[in-house]
Amino acid sequence: MEDRQGHRIAVIGGDGIGPEVTDAALAVVRAAGVHLATEAFDLGAARYLRDGFVLDDATLDALRGFDAIVLGAIGPAIGDTRIPGGVLERGLLLRLRFGLDLYINYRPFHGTAGSLAAGCDFAIVRENTEGPYAGEGGILRRGTSQEVATQGSVNTRFGVERCVRYAFERARQLARPRLTLVHKTNVLTFAGDLWSRVVAEVGAAYPDVAVDYNHVDAACIYLVEDPARYGIIVTDNLFGDILSDLAGAVAGGIGFAASANLNPERTGPSMFEPVHGAAHDIVGTGRANPLAAVASAGLMLEHLGEADAARRVLAAVADLQDRVLHGSTEQITQQLIARL
Ligand code: IPM
Ligand code: MN
Repeated sequence: MEDRQGHRIAVIGGDGIGPEVTDAALAVVRAAGVHLATEAFDLGAARYLRDGFVLDDATLDALRGFDAIVLGAIGPAIGDTRIPGGVLERGLLLRLRFGLDLYINYRPFHGTAGSLAAGCDFAIVRENTEGPYAGEGGILRRGTSQEVATQGSVNTRFGVERCVRYAFERARQLARPRLTLVHKTNVLTFAGDLWSRVVAEVGAAYPDVAVDYNHVDAACIYLVEDPARYGIIVTDNLFGDILSDLAGAVAGGIGFAASANLNPERTGPSMFEPVHGAAHDIVGTGRANPLAAVASAGLMLEHLGEADAARRVLAAVADLQDRVLHGSTEQITQQLIARL
C-alpha cells in the first residue's frame, strides 16, 4: 500500500501519443483517489535520436526503486528509418522486461459491443522473458553466399513452470475456470513437449480448472470464430505477441488492449503499458484513445493492492468501451473520471 506521498511511480511516456495516454491514465488514477509520487524518465526514440541514449545499468537500477512503472509507447514514426530495428526493442523494452524479471505479460480482452468478440472476457498470459525473444543465436559469414542465421527459442523448465503456474492461478479465479495452452507441439516438438508436460504437471494441483490445448494456427481461427471458448490462454513469448494483436483486433481494436508486465514475486516493480504503439500520425491532434493506457493503469492498481480503485477504474473503462467513442483524449478522460 502507499506511504504518505503515495505509490512511487516511474513514468516512461515515450514517443508519439505515449505521453498523451500516460497523462490521461495518471489523471484517472488520481481522480480515483490514489496518491502517486511520479518521476518522469525520458526514454525512447526521441531521446535516442537526440543523444544516442537507450538505457544503461544506472537507469535500470534507478527504476528498481519504484513501486511500478507506467509506460506509454516506444518507437519512431512509421517510415522513419534512422533507428535500426532492435535498438529500442531489444535495448529498451526487452531490457526492461528481462532486467526487471517481468516474466508475465498479462493481456486481458473484453470484447466491446459490436466487435467479433462482443461479450467475451479472456486473457492471454504470455511468457515474457524467454522463447524466441531470448536473443539466442547469431549470424555467421554475414553478407556472404554462405550466410547462416539462427535464432533459437529458449524454454527453461523454470521459466515455463512459473508462467504456467501464474496462468493457473488466474484461471482458477474465473467464474468458469478454464485454461488453454496454445503452442505448436506437432512441429516444435521439443519446446512443445516441455510446455505440455508442465501444463499437465502444474494442472494436477488445479483440478477445478478445465484444461485444453490448441495449436497456434487453429487458435487464430477460434479467436475469430469462437472467442467465447477462451478463459485464460497461456503461451510462449512469440505466440503471445502475435495472438494478442489478433485478440485486440477481434475484441474491438488494439486501442483498447491493456497489458501488465508482471514480476509476481515483487522482487521489483512491474510495468504497465498499452499494447498499441506510438501512433505518430495523430500526435497532438487530441485523437489518441486513452482507454488502453487507463486500463493498464487499472491493472497497476490491482497489482499495488488498490483493489477498490482498480475496480472503479476498470469498470469505467469497460463502460466506455461499450459505447461509440467520440470526443478527444481529454473528453474521454473526463468521461472516465465522471464514471469513477
Ligand atoms: C508488444 C510489442 C513488443 C513485443 C515489441 C515492440 C518489442 O510488439 O509489446 O507486443 O514484441 O513484445
Ligand atoms: Mn506486439
